[in-house]
Parts: sequence; C-alpha cells; structure tokens
Amino acid sequence: MKKIIIAPSILSADFAALKHDLKMIEESGADWVHIDVMDGHFVPNITVGPVVVKSLRKETELFFDVHLMITNPEKYWRKFKEAGADLITFHSEISAEKKKLVEDIRSSGIKAGISIKPKTPVSEIKALLPYLNLVLIMTVEPGFGGQSFMEDMIAKIKVLRKIIDENKYDCLIEVDGGINSRTASICIGAGADALVSGSYIFATENHVEVVKSLFV
Ligand code: DX5
Ligand code: ZN
Repeated sequence: MKKIIIAPSILSADFAALKHDLKMIEESGADWVHIDVMDGHFVPNITVGPVVVKSLRKETELFFDVHLMITNPEKYWRKFKEAGADLITFHSEISAEKKKLVEDIRSSGIKAGISIKPKTPVSEIKALLPYLNLVLIMTVEPGFGGQSFMEDMIAKIKVLRKIIDENKYDCLIEVDGGINSRTASICIGAGADALVSGSYIFATENHVEVVKSLFV
C-alpha cells in the first residue's frame, strides 16, 4: 500500500498557540504542515505572510507545504522560500506565466505545485504535469476552513490519477477542503496521495487518533 501524506492545515489552529500546535502535529504522526496564505484579493480572506512562516520554521523540522492563494505569487514566492517553505503551491487561475514560475521555484531548490479551484478542469494544468511535484485539487472554494467537501471533485481526482499513471509523471495529488475520515477514504480510493485537513483535526484534542482515522 502506498504511503498517504497527511498535511494538517494550521488555518484551523489557535494562532496564539502555533508553537504548541506544531508539537501536536509532530506527535500526531502527520508528515507535513499545510500553511494557507491568503491576500484578500485572490480569495476574500487574509491570513499569514513570510514572517509567520519564518517564526514557525525555528520550531520544527516538519515539511512546510505552503499554499499561496494570492494573485501575484511571482512577486512573493521567494520570500516564502527564504522563510522556510519546502513546497510552494500557487494557483492555476493567476495570470503570470506558470511554467516559468514552476521552473523558478524548482531551480531555487524546493518543490513546486499548482492548485486548481473547483471550477478549473484538469486540462488547464495538463501540459505542466511533467514539471510539477504536486497538483492540489481544491475540494471546496478556497478562502475558508470548515466548508463541506464537494463530492463532484472525485471525478477530477480520478482523471488526474489516470493521466499521471499513464505517463509515469513524478507528481503527487493533494486534496484540500472538507477532509474528514469519510471523505479521506473516498479521496484515497480515487487516487489522492496527500490529504490536507484543518477543522476536522483541530476540532478535537485527540489529535493522534484523529490523524490516524484519516488513513482508514
Ligand atoms: C481553504 C484552505 C484549506 C483549509 C481547509 O481555502 O486552502 O487548507 O484550511 O480547511 P478544512 O479542512 O476545514 O476544510
Ligand atoms: Zn489550503
């Protein structure tokens, strides 16, 4: 069985206690930390910038999965890299030249991903798959934690899985939004490699059990 990566999203953590929550993520056995960056323009919400990532970097060795929901990732991605990001994912729906951005991020020594919103088809990013480390399929409209999983995104995961397998691309599929034990198992069945989960994980104190329940 392939290893599924769990990426707790700190969007649902206690922002006054992020150091504590990073320790909790370490203890839970999760592999990555998912950091949602929002600019109030690409999405109707604002979260954190590179200074927060830099502070978190001092506290843990966990892999930093940085999800840029911003209009101009080409202007800001390097700041997040310098702050300690291990993977930078930007959105397909931006206007900058995406292949160049992927190449710039990868040649800086870290991994690059592209995310697609629910209305964006897999065909939009198909030509970039040979260059990508990861595709992040949004299973809710980006912007907020705690929304319900969009069941019709399952078909997209399956389509992408098929293309990646047929072409033997070295590219992970990550899903983000409304992931709990039920939807995690549907996504794994459809071919997801990595699961982002925010409100489901942080709603309970029993983090070890809740992270384990995502693999079932
Ligand atoms: C939403 C963010 C997600 C969010 C997921 O735009 O990209 O990472 O934290 O939260 P849940 O798991 O609560 O849907
Ligand atoms: Zn996210």
